[in-house]
Amino acid sequence: MRVFSGIQPTGMAHLGNYLGALKNWVNLQQEEHECFYSIANQHAITLPQDRENLRKSTLQTAAILFSIGLNPEKSTIFVQSDVPAHTQFAWILSCLSPIGEMERMIQFKEKSKKTRHMANLGLLSYPVLQAADILLYKANLVPVGKDQEQHLELTRLLAKKFNNFYKPIFVEPKTLHTKTIKVVGLDGTAKMSKSAKNHISIVENEKTLWEKLSTAVTDPARIKKTDKGNPQICNIYSLHKLFSTQQDLEWVVAGCSNAKIGCIECKKKLFKNINELLKPIREKYVEWMKNPEKIKISLKNGAQKANKIAQQTLDEIYDIVGFKY
Ligand code: AMP
Ligand code: TRP
Repeated sequence: MRVFSGIQPTGMAHLGNYLGALKNWVNLQQEEHECFYSIANQHAITLPQDRENLRKSTLQTAAILFSIGLNPEKSTIFVQSDVPAHTQFAWILSCLSPIGEMERMIQFKEKSKKTRHMANLGLLSYPVLQAADILLYKANLVPVGKDQEQHLELTRLLAKKFNNFYKPIFVEPKTLHTKTIKVVGLDGTAKMSKSAKNHISIVENEKTLWEKLSTAVTDPARIKKTDKGNPQICNIYSLHKLFSTQQDLEWVVAGCSNAKIGCIECKKKLFKNINELLKPIREKYVEWMKNPEKIKISLKNGAQKANKIAQQTLDEIYDIVGFKY
């Protein structure tokens, strides 16, 4: 099967990205699917980006992808702007996209509220570019987090519209979610995200990991160690559920609800479990980042492979649309 997905290079990927989507990227590669993974820098500039940060984040995001187990020899990993066919096809799809449909996108509504000035056109048409990303590779499966579902619905709608209006050449791609629907941030309320400063990066070092966990919000009703806590409403327990064994979970529930363990002991256990997962990833990441040239070569090789497929589809599309004369 063909697999396609993307991640924006807007800072360090975090545990929400990993558990919500990236874990599946690795699983699919291991199942020997034909995988294309894009670093979506053209999506990133729908919100203002600093040039140096964008360059740095592009390399860091690639290093993270390589460190979690994606192998550039097996999967095609590339930077979106290195493959011009994406924006070329997005133009054609935008001519099939109803404006009302675009204005209904939840992410557009949320993000445009946050921008100080009127939202830009790119923010509105962003899901069309995402549809172009996916359809150019005629991907069957798209591993993403739940927040991307609406964009995938639009992708299927645009595939259908193209098929009906021009010629049936596209399959409707299926969404693949992980078991983790949403990782909540350390503030205990919002979704973990790069911009909200409530996240733990995939390559968080031990010192900052502990700083973040030790100050994270817990059950607000538990003020003293002798107060009995309620794990079911505690954010730290929701993280335990993602990272800890059944035995540890039972220890937390019994200890917290009977006031036998304090929040710090509970957080120490969580620290140990998260750190066990992150340590090998962090070590590989440090190695990759020592050699940015190697990252760049891998990305350029990826772009070459992606360009080949994308250009083939674009040629087919240009012919169907009537651009070849
Ligand atoms: P982004 O960082 O917005 O490019 O997201 C990359 C992938 O991670 C997408 O598939 C998102 O759906 C997923 N994702 C981002 N934040 C979270 C979260 N807090 N919980 C679960 N999945 C997430
Ligand atoms: N829009 C996705 C996000 O913000 C990233 C992305 C870009 C993507 N192109 C894609 C995801 C194609 C899946 C398929 O997370």
